[in-house]
Amino acid sequence: MKIDILTLFPEMFDNFLTTSIIGRAIDKKKVDIKIHNIRDYSLDKHKRVDDYAYGGGSGMVLMPEPVKRAIDSVKDNDSLVILLTPQGSPYSQAKALSLAKVKHLILVCGHYEGFDERIRYFVDLEISIGDYVLTGGELPSMVITDSIVRLLDGVINEDSYKFDSFSDNLLDYPVYTHPLVFEGYEVPEVLTSGNHEKIAKWRKEQQIKRTKERRPDILEKS
Ligand SMILES: C[S@@+](CC[C@H](N)C(=O)[O-])C[C@H]1O[C@@H](n2cnc3c(N)ncnc32)[C@H](O)[C@@H]1O
Repeated sequence: MKIDILTLFPEMFDNFLTTSIIGRAIDKKKVDIKIHNIRDYSLDKHKRVDDYAYGGGSGMVLMPEPVKRAIDSVKDNDSLVILLTPQGSPYSQAKALSLAKVKHLILVCGHYEGFDERIRYFVDLEISIGDYVLTGGELPSMVITDSIVRLLDGVINEDSYKFDSFSDNLLDYPVYTHPLVFEGYEVPEVLTSGNHEKIAKWRKEQQIKRTKERRPDILEKS
């Protein structure tokens, strides 16, 4: 899989691309991630990428030309172009699973007051990572990349994400490690019983109980 991220702040991705599971996935060539500076596509002699909004108002607006030129420079027949915006469709684990099957993603990060409305004509999809407003699309693009890369073949053990929260419309079951007793709180006995059937049953019950208590909305879909 290939992911191209278009941004005004490439330096924000330095640690993200070299750390932990994402860093290893890149090293093992499970994913090819490239960061492109939208400013490099400005035709302005001062490399300007933003301007005041027509009609007035506070905040600068990303101009459509450098963004469109940046998209065109990486786009091919397999590409899906995604615009990060709080006005997009809400992101979810189901969306991550479907995007993990796409060969090439282009993630476009806005900044400042946002982008010129006409950029919307040149993207396939608009995604929001939640009902709040961030300063830029960089964190949302990392959120989306992270959630997708961990689902790619050979990046993490399939068992690790098969029971993750939101798979099967359930939250994950509780997990414990050493010590057996911590500050008076014990590991449930069933987990040390060695009876795998009982453990699987207990875990499923816990998933349903947790989801009922915390997210009855997603249990209804299940
Ligand atoms: C300050 S925001 C602009 C918000 C815009 N004025 C609005 O209210 O829709 C700047 C950029 O951050 C990104 N962004 C902010 N919040 C986001 C969210 N919840 N999901 C996805 N992208 C977001 C978008 O790329 C956006 O263009």
